[in-house]
This record gives sequence, C-alpha cells and structure tokens, in this order.
Amino acid sequence: MKARGNFASKLGIILATAGSAVGLGNVWRFPFMAGHNGGAAFIVLYFGCILLLGIPGMVSEFIIGRHSQSNAARAYYEISGGQRRWRLVGYLGILTSTIILGFYAVVAGWCLQYLFASLMGHLSGDADYVLHYFQSFSSHPWKPVLWAVAFILITHLVIVRGVQNGIERASKLLMPLLLVLLVLIVIASCSLPGAMAGVEFLLKPDFSKVSGGVLLEALGQAFFSLSLGTACLCTYASYFSRDTNLLKSAGQIAFLDTFIAILSGLMIFPAAFSVGVEPDAGPSLIFITLPNVFQQAFGHLPLLGYVIGILFYALLVFAALTSTISMHEISTAFFAEELNLQRKKAAWIETLVCILLAIGCSLSVGAVDSLTLFGQSLMDFCDMLTAQIMLPLGAFLTSLFIGWVVDQRLVHDELTNQGTVAEGLFRAYQFSVRYIVPLCILLIFLHQFGVL
Ligand code: TRP
Repeated sequence: MKARGNFASKLGIILATAGSAVGLGNVWRFPFMAGHNGGAAFIVLYFGCILLLGIPGMVSEFIIGRHSQSNAARAYYEISGGQRRWRLVGYLGILTSTIILGFYAVVAGWCLQYLFASLMGHLSGDADYVLHYFQSFSSHPWKPVLWAVAFILITHLVIVRGVQNGIERASKLLMPLLLVLLVLIVIASCSLPGAMAGVEFLLKPDFSKVSGGVLLEALGQAFFSLSLGTACLCTYASYFSRDTNLLKSAGQIAFLDTFIAILSGLMIFPAAFSVGVEPDAGPSLIFITLPNVFQQAFGHLPLLGYVIGILFYALLVFAALTSTISMHEISTAFFAEELNLQRKKAAWIETLVCILLAIGCSLSVGAVDSLTLFGQSLMDFCDMLTAQIMLPLGAFLTSLFIGWVVDQRLVHDELTNQGTVAEGLFRAYQFSVRYIVPLCILLIFLHQFGVL
C-alpha cells in the first residue's frame, strides 16, 4: 500500500481532531437543540451523554483507527482479525458522514453568506429586519444553493492538497482565536438589557420538560458534536502517533468541545431573550439572534461591532471547514485506498455526491417546499436520520465490536500504550464498552420507539 499522508506534529493531529469536533454542531446546533428542549435540563442530560457514552465511544474509535492505520472500512475488517461483515460498520460511517456533509454544507453556506453580508454592512437594522433578512435569504431560489456548493468546493480543495498542508496548518492558529472571540461575545450578549432571563434558561433545569425524545436528542447532539459514530475519529486516529495517550486526548477534546457549546449557549440565549427571539426558533436561531448582538451590544462603538461581526462569521466558517474536511476525509481515504484511485479522483466522487445532496437540502428549506420525506423537509430529515439513528447505531455497533469481538489484549495495549499509561482505567473502560454504552443506547432507542 502506498504511504499514507501524515501529520507533521503530534499537536497538529490532536488539534485537527479537536477541529473536527468543534464546528457548527457547537455554535449552531447545540443552542437550537437546547432551546427546543427546554434549556438547562437538556444540558444536564447532554453532559451525562458526553461523559458516560461519548468519551468511551471516542476512545473506541481511536483504538480501531490507530491500531489499523487505514481507512474506515478496512480498519474494522483488519482489527477484527479478517471478518468481512465488520466492514459494514465502516460503510455505515461513510454513508452517514456523506449525508451529514450534505446538510451541514447548507448551514455552512449560510455562514458564508452572513460573512459576506456583514462585510457589506447588510445586516444592520432592528430585530424584525434581521429576522426578515434570514427568511428572504434562505428561501431565495439559488443564492443559498450556490453558497453551499461553494463551501463543498472549498472543502474539496483543502482535501486534495493533502492532510498535512491543508488540515493541520489551518487548525493551529484559528481555533484559539475562535475561543477568545466567543468569550468576548458572551460578555457583550450578557450585557444586553433583560439578558439574565437567558442565563437562567440555561442554568435552571426544569425536568418536567424531559421526555424520552429529549434524551434521544441529547444523545444525538452529543455524538454529533464529538464527531462520533461515523468512523470519522477512527480515520483521524489512523494518523495518531504510537505514544498519543488516547484516553487523555478524548477527555481533552470532549472538554473543549463541551466548553465551546456552553459558551455558544451563553452567547445566544441572553441575546435571544433580550431581543425577543423565541428560544425554540429552530435552525434559524443563531442567524436571527447574533446580528442583533453585534449592533446593540456595541451600539456606542459601531465600528467595533462591525469588526467583531465579520471576525465571528469568518471564524465560524473556518470552524465549519475543519469539520467538513473531517467528514470528507473519511470517504476520500476510503475511495483512494480501496478503489486504488488517486486522492484527487477519490475526492471528486465524494464532492459530487455531497453537492447533489446539498442542493436538495438547501431547496427543501427554501424555494421548494415539496421536497419532504416523512413529513419533514429533506434537510430536517437528513439531520434527524443521522443524529438520532445512524450515529447512535454506529456507536452502538462500534462499542459491541470493541468490547466483544476485538482481541482484548490488543485493546489493552492500545488503550494503555503497551502498559505505560492509564493502566488502572482499562477495566473501567472495558466494562463501559461492553455493557454501559450499548445498553444505554439500546434503552434510549427502545424508549423512543415506545417499547419501554
Ligand atoms: N462535530 C462536528 C460539529 O460539531 C460535525 C462533524 C464533523 C461530525 N465530523 C463529523 C458529526 C462526523 C458527525 C460525524 O460541527
């Protein structure tokens, strides 16, 4: 097999993995999911899912990827000692990440448009204007489609330039910058009049709103945000070095990812309550809330508001890009290595499929109302299907696989780096992937489908 792309530094690949995790899932999806499900109570369940199911799930994918050093499908096959049926979990991951990339690109395209609009100063006006701006833009017959396609093509470009030049270099600088900016905007948002109601919404749980559906949404959001359940982490871990501490890396990335999600909540809800946007506004939530923050919170310093708005959308676009790259890479690595194609050609296959999907998704929430499946727009359907069914299924199968199928000595050696780290945690990890993770996912599924 030809040499695989590699990352220049240990820090680079860990940052790239964090870059995959941190994206629109944190800044866009987390707030609207929390808003839709009652705020604080959802967040408590979300924390539970990250700790109990997310971290062990990440470690499992890391083990499979690093041990086999190959693409998603082959990794499962090889580490199972050559059982062909386990390739299917890899295929499931490739399919899931392709669907996610399809609708994710639509939202990333909205961000690109907002970057452009804030540069041009088109987003200034009162709360009604901002709401109307989003509605008329997102239902425009071709504009949002073009932005989505543009976003996929940008992803494609980075992917064909190779892992090292593309993904790694970009991740190092801009991620820390995003964090700093988020903190700044949180402060601005919390200083708006009436903002404290939003903070309360995030911090005071009302468990009467919690049902089985909320639990599944929290689980889906946790997996989505950690990039878990599609062999994405497995693909990235195939570039990890032998002495990376898998458990520690998973913990650090999960912590950072959750921290950014909470910051995003603290950025959106105080402002939403202040300007009168309903917390359950759905996917449009950040787009109809944020422009108000940039104008109102910086009312006395309009230039600062203008610059911060532009910087914010630019960094959001970048965060989305490091995530779309990771989704794209799963399929590109697979097609290149399994079909023996040049990386460039392999990347085109994924790019074209995603472009078609993105066009459908974008039209379904705008110009073409009739693009529905099971009573939902194609876009909402893809989101629901992946986050609430395919990701949990992928994580469930991976957990059973690592707990019961893979040689446990191998699992031990990978987790502990041949007995040098985390030795005491092996039993706990093993118990968790054998019993806790599969059982919890199963129970949540059964509950959702009315069996329990
Ligand atoms: N985690 C990313 C986010 O929060 C999205 C993402 C990237 C993803 N790769 C993935 C989600 C693989 C599921 C599977 O924006």
